[in-house]
Amino acid sequence: MKHARTLNAIEILELIFHYLTQVSVLRDYDDIINVLADMGRALTSSDRCTVWIVSDDKKTIWTKVAHGMDAIELDINSGVVGNAITKGEKVIIDDVYQDSRFNPDIDKITGYVTKSMMVVPMYDNDNQIIGAFQVINHRGEKGVFEERDMERLMLATTYAAETIVSARLANEIEATQREVIFTMGAIGESRSKETGNHVKRVAEYSYLLAIAYGLDPKEAELLKQASPMHDIGKVAIPDAILNKPGPFNEHEREIMNTHAELGYSMLKKSERSLIKAAATVAYEHHEKWDGTGYPNGLAGEDIHLFGRITALADVFDALGSDRCYKKAWDDEKIFALFKEERGKHFDPKLVDLFFENLDQFLEIRERFKDEF
Ligand code: C2E
Ligand code: SIN
Ligand code: SIN
Ligand code: SIN
Ligand code: FE
Ligand code: FE
Repeated sequence: MKHARTLNAIEILELIFHYLTQVSVLRDYDDIINVLADMGRALTSSDRCTVWIVSDDKKTIWTKVAHGMDAIELDINSGVVGNAITKGEKVIIDDVYQDSRFNPDIDKITGYVTKSMMVVPMYDNDNQIIGAFQVINHRGEKGVFEERDMERLMLATTYAAETIVSARLANEIEATQREVIFTMGAIGESRSKETGNHVKRVAEYSYLLAIAYGLDPKEAELLKQASPMHDIGKVAIPDAILNKPGPFNEHEREIMNTHAELGYSMLKKSERSLIKAAATVAYEHHEKWDGTGYPNGLAGEDIHLFGRITALADVFDALGSDRCYKKAWDDEKIFALFKEERGKHFDPKLVDLFFENLDQFLEIRERFKDEF
């Protein structure tokens, strides 16, 4: 293959276009960084390209992508890369073994012989250091890097920095969203004097049932995050009803039952998969397998699996807990009810999975038990 240095401007553009076309169809940020490392290598005619990332505590650097070696972590104050990162300097070295900054440990481990090296620090939009692009061993006759190789590596570095910044932003937004949803769910519960641990347990039980049912872990995780929202509609129920210390009359019961539809109305407008799942759970967690539930009297598999699962998780937790209107039930009574309601209130398959995995349910209950 021709060295990139001998390519004319059009050929270089073609090369860049080749890699950015690959990037444009990728959704996974790690895959994108991988292609950009390939681009950095091709544009500089180097033998290897490594993308280094500064750790959160800023004490180490680790390899996000590396040609020809496993992921490793180094002290941020060691080596050429660490030096470039801490000083914020671009580096070109013709022979690293003549350079006191070089840390030969990696060569010793991999058996690879590093000679020439070029390092470009990578910054985010606020000029905070993210990491560095490093290329090793120029493939040309002299085997050393030049200033114009540096300019090309900076191109790959710039794209990579943008990718990393967007990935972090996306993670941040998702984390915030999860937190907001969880908090909203907890507020819905706390007004009715149920503990924050109730929503945590319901989330864990739901995840366990989803996995046991055979959903893939991504779907199960979605349900786990959405199920704490099942009673969000309770925020709109008057206190006098919500916290009534005894059994409901018919009128109160009717009002309370609106919490399912209310929760759904609050969430249904969203396009986000997490909020959509939460809307489904809020809407359908009081439907019953035999069609006698509310608000819509759905039956069997017309009830979304997320609703069926949350129903079981919610009732298991509600029965085992003190409420303003009742004392906690003991386990034998709860199990008897589940057996009785198998195929009536609950999806029979889910009841079976509940009993098959009972130890894990009890373990979760113990782990997240209410402290008084
Ligand atoms: P929750 O307390 O979280 O209960 C959730 C579900 O667990 C109930 O849905 C019901 O299916 C089941 N469950 C809870 N405790 C019992 C019980 O002692 N016996 C039986 N057989 N099932 C029980 P449900 O019935 O649709 O109630 C929805 C929500 O309405 C309850 O959420 C609670 O906040 C409220 N609620 C229901 N009944 C009463 C009541 O008599 N008095 C008061 N103050 N609130 C009630
Ligand atoms: C290259 O860009 O040098 C080849 C891509 C690869 O095999 O990683
Ligand atoms: C160094 O940064 O000095 C060593 C890193 C490497 O050899 O890849
Ligand atoms: C799901 O996999 O999201 C649930 C499908 C169903 O409603 O049964
Ligand atoms: Fe409810
Ligand atoms: Fe609940």
